[in-house]
Amino acid sequence: MTRLRTAILISGRGSNMDALIAASKDPSFPADVALVLSNRPDAPGLAKAKAAGVATAAVDHKIYAGREEFERSLQLLLETYRIEFICLAGFMRMFTPWFVGQWRGRMLNIHPSLLPAFRGLDTHERALADGVKIHGCTVHFVVPEMDEGPIVAQAAVPVLDDDTPQTLAARVLAQEHVIYPMALQLVASGAVRIERNRVIGALAPHETAFIVPDAAAAPKRIS
Ligand code: GRF
Repeated sequence: MTRLRTAILISGRGSNMDALIAASKDPSFPADVALVLSNRPDAPGLAKAKAAGVATAAVDHKIYAGREEFERSLQLLLETYRIEFICLAGFMRMFTPWFVGQWRGRMLNIHPSLLPAFRGLDTHERALADGVKIHGCTVHFVVPEMDEGPIVAQAAVPVLDDDTPQTLAARVLAQEHVIYPMALQLVASGAVRIERNRVIGALAPHETAFIVPDAAAAPKRIS
């Protein structure tokens, strides 16, 4: 089996990166994490990737005159490592349409809300401020518009009365670590395809929708 050579792009702690690397350690997983790339040389995730035996690199966006110059360096590095697919995992830079165009249909992102609700930052604070009862996370293909693009998988969690942004974030993050590897597996194995704005063809009808009925429970497929 040839595995999809995948780069994970991070800016920070890299817990989703950890989950993806752990999944890819199984030789039957259809993606191989060949590179972890950060725009911040001091990102804590880089050391963790190195410890897991994955090649790492940093391209500091601050030294470039503009976004496109920064992205051309990224692109060169990705080509050098013969990368075929990208997973954004807490990568805190917006891409130009040029870069997104290079990776159209070949780049996933994870966002800590049930898109299209709460695009952008501070999703957990905003979910609490708006009083929603269900919150969650989304894995989606990247398009030029921020936090848009065909959705591969989502997980929903309850919002509890005594939640703080931190407790809610932790509940959502646990599900991020479940659905991101699953979504990558579906995409890398060719099990799903994009039609217009929809990702279809999951092997089971509800393979990509998860709901966590109470805070302590393990994620469960909707059936
Ligand atoms: C996650 O909440 C992810 O959804 C968002 O940024 C955070 C990154 O966390 N895009 P980590 O670096 O994967 O721990």
